[in-house]
Amino acid sequence: ATVSLIGAPTDVGASVRGAGMGPDALRVAGLAAALQAQGFDVIDRGNLAGPPNPWQQPAQGVRHLPEVVAWNRAVFEAVSTALAMNHVPLLMGGDHCLAIGSISAVARQCRQERKNLRVIWLDAHTDVNTETISPSGNIHGMPVACLLGHGPADLVGWSGERAAIDAGSLDFIGIRSVDADERQAIKQMGLQVFDMRHIDEHGMRNTMTEVLQDVDEDTHIHVSFDLDCLDPMEAPGVGTGVRGGPTYREMQLCMEMIADTGRLGSLDVVEINPALDVRNRTAELAVEFIQSLFGASTLVR
Ligand code: ARG
Ligand code: MN
Ligand code: MN
Ligand code: MN
Repeated sequence: ATVSLIGAPTDVGASVRGAGMGPDALRVAGLAAALQAQGFDVIDRGNLAGPPNPWQQPAQGVRHLPEVVAWNRAVFEAVSTALAMNHVPLLMGGDHCLAIGSISAVARQCRQERKNLRVIWLDAHTDVNTETISPSGNIHGMPVACLLGHGPADLVGWSGERAAIDAGSLDFIGIRSVDADERQAIKQMGLQVFDMRHIDEHGMRNTMTEVLQDVDEDTHIHVSFDLDCLDPMEAPGVGTGVRGGPTYREMQLCMEMIADTGRLGSLDVVEINPALDVRNRTAELAVEFIQSLFGASTLVR
């Protein structure tokens, strides 16, 4: 299989600067070589171009809407192109607002190919705010809402349907920070949240067994991996870290169990912030997890 690396060097969706350096941090950490060593053909498409971060206050509940739209358009095109060539697109963010373009492209392709799309959202946050409820106006806190058809109009409907995905096909893992109104949105939309309490009580193994139970040969799994899902002790290079996340071993198991399905079709790796990192540790960690997600195993068998 061929993996297409797509860099989107921007932090327009965040209010902490630095995630725009994520793609190069992943390159420096050896992402392409790591996947090649596992037998994949890897094409680094370089970085997409887009507007600079204007660094403004929110307007009508959102910060930098035109810039977020422009970056997501570029991501949507690049991911669509990769999918049309039957490549596995690996979006190197960038902040998490870019999942709007990426997953909209994946959803459109899945509809054409009559595949069942399953989105696994690895994050400390649920990112289901909208312009009316967001406490920050940062669009990296809104991609799930947009994909379900609820965000700012300019960011909704890109897949060809109002909702790119339905609530039942998305599972959150690692959640431990939900804003007051997000809680209500989660209930209203019927979203499944495997929060840290669930992982504490049932363990990562049972959690992932439940998440993956209805995956079959017609399923396309998209993983949207926000590095702040991990405990900040492991991954300090993130802009909105929250303590109490999965450990290194728990996250490895999560990745390995997804890999075991053989159905990984596309991936976002977002929110790595080299400006806040310690010797590129977070990008190096990301590369290890990506290797596991693509089927590298520590098991001797
Ligand atoms: N819930 C907060 C907000 O809406 C934080 C979101 C953080 N999102 C992220 N992708 N890191 O501003
Ligand atoms: Mn997050
Ligand atoms: Mn589910
Ligand atoms: Mn996120």
